[in-house]
Parts: sequence; C-alpha cells; structure tokens
Amino acid sequence: MANKILVTGASGNIGAPLVKELQAQGADFAVLRSKHSNDPGVETRVADFGDVAALTQAFKGIDTLFLLFPLVENKVALATNAAAAAKAAGVKHIVRSSGAGADSSSSFALPKLQGTIDDILVATGIPTTFLRPGGFMQNYATYQSQAIKDGTIYMADGGKSQALIDARDIAAVAARVLTNPAAHAGKAYMLTGGEDFTGADAAKTISAAVGRSVQHVSVPTEAAVATMNQWGVPPFIVNVMDSLNQIISAGYASGVSPDVENILGRKPRTFAAFVGENSAAWK
Ligand SMILES: NC(=O)c1ccc[n+]([C@@H]2O[C@H](COP(=O)([O-])OP(=O)(O)OC[C@H]3O[C@@H](n4cnc5c(N)ncnc54)[C@H](OP(=O)(O)O)[C@@H]3O)[C@@H](O)[C@H]2O)c1
Repeated sequence: MANKILVTGASGNIGAPLVKELQAQGADFAVLRSKHSNDPGVETRVADFGDVAALTQAFKGIDTLFLLFPLVENKVALATNAAAAAKAAGVKHIVRSSGAGADSSSSFALPKLQGTIDDILVATGIPTTFLRPGGFMQNYATYQSQAIKDGTIYMADGGKSQALIDARDIAAVAARVLTNPAAHAGKAYMLTGGEDFTGADAAKTISAAVGRSVQHVSVPTEAAVATMNQWGVPPFIVNVMDSLNQIISAGYASGVSPDVENILGRKPRTFAAFVGENSAAWK
C-alpha cells in the first residue's frame, strides 16, 4: 500500500538522523522546511507552522505525517495549525514527537504543554502514535558544551539519575513507526536509553573521553531560575525548564523504559558510545 511520509523538524536532532534512516530504508518521503533550503537528494516542501494555508498545501498527498514542533511559546498555536492542515489535506496517520510524561492535566508546565498538544492531535480523529522521549544525550553536546569546556556542569537535578536517550534512537523508532503506521495506531511509547545514570556519572564519562577533569555540581532549582533570569532567558523557557528541573530533582525522570529495545530489537545506544563519538564538541 502506498505510504508517502512527510518529516517535519527535518533539520533537527531527531529529524536529521530520521531522514538518513528513511533514505537507508528506501522509503517514499519528503521533508518540510520552514524556509527555502537546499537539501540535496530529498524532496523538500516549504511551510512555516504559523501558516495553515501553506501547511495544508505541503501536507497534500501525505499518508503519514511526522510532527515535531520546536520548544517555543506559541507551540500550542503551531500544533493547532498543523492539526487543521492535516485534517484538510487528508493525512491518514500522525506520528508526533512529544515528551516524557505528556499529560494535559499535569501540574508540571512541560508535560502539561506536551499533553495539551497530544490531545489536539487526537481530537482530529486521525490515527496517532506518540513518541515520548525523556532527555536527550545530545544536550551535553549542545546546551552543556561550553560548561563542559569550562570544566563544570551545573544542573538542577537533585543528584538524581536519568536514562538519557541518543536522539538517533528516537529517529530509528520513528522510522519503524512511519514505515508501518497501522501496527502502531493508538500507541504511545516512552523512549529512554538503556542505562540510568546521574550527572556525576556523565561528568566522569566525559572526563575520561576528553582527558581532563569535568565536575558536576547539583544546584537548587531556585538557583537555576535565578541564573536563567539573570541571563535574560525568556520567561516561557524559564518556566518549562524549571518544571523539568523539578521533575528530575524529584526522581520522576529516573528509570529505563523497554520500548526502544522492544521496537528496534536491539539495545539503545550507550552514553559511553555517544561520548566517544562526540568528544570533539568538548575540546
Ligand atoms: N532536548 C531534550 O532533551 C528533549 C527531550 C524531550 C523532548 N524534547 C522535545 O523535542 C523537540 C525538539 O526536537 P529536536 O531537538 O529534534 O529539534 P531541534 O533540533 O530544536 O530542531 C527544531 C526543528 O523544528 C523546525 N522548525 C522550527 N520552527 C519551525 C516553524 N516555525 N515551522 C516549521 N518548522 C519549524 C526546524 O526546521 P527548519 O530548520 O526548517 O526551520 C528544526 O528542524 C521539542 O519539542 C522538545 O520539547 C526535547
């Protein structure tokens, strides 16, 4: 049966490796970019999540839609646009990259936001599959890279562990679901790595890879808020990051889910392997 796929968020941590997975599998797919871009060898459609008419045009002829929204203040409005466009264009299945614990009734800001968007997509009546990852290993190579170069990682984590996932494993799961959507209709998967480790464990692994000492320091969540405010971080981001820090500090982000291994039939990528491949980011 024909299954034309559209990948949104195609230039990001999850989307870029997802494009490679779909290419390797010979899937029939296109990517959505927010602005004109040159993605050689890939069918590219251009639309901003802010523009329903352009989105509807871009979603035409798409059977299975991979939706990934950036973490921005108007995320719910962007998702509402995408839901309307998917319905208008006759999309048959939506696979959405959501977040761990997504729940519109949560008292924590970030899971509440993710759950609200999941509910909007369910309300379209289009079959859905939700991928709900915990924290990404990639955060150490992006947001934390300067702190690591400076020798100290400050985290409002209460010293608690997380089973961080390599975003490439989210992409690998997404590829499996997108190429066989009917088998995953109505499902939600909690995606983690295969090992639960603390920030101090992570600092040790990174120290060994870069050949110098990198310290991990746990700070209170209030101190993280004060620092973000001092840096001029937008209030929306401060609020969602604070909710995330509170979740981690309470130990709610600890624990390994079996879903990645169940879907891929192999163990998730390890943090040691990720660090070995990314040590250039900290030199
Ligand atoms: N980092 C974590 O630990 C973590 C954990 C769980 C969940 N998440 C969630 O994962 C998501 C981020 O995933 P990611 O890291 O793969 O993304 P990312 O690297 O931040 O990339 C964002 C993507 O969104 C696209 N985009 C941005 N604005 C757009 C617009 N107005 N219209 C259309 N496309 C737009 C960009 O495409 P263009 O280049 O074409 O603009 C880009 O491909 C967020 O929703 C976050 O809440 C993150």
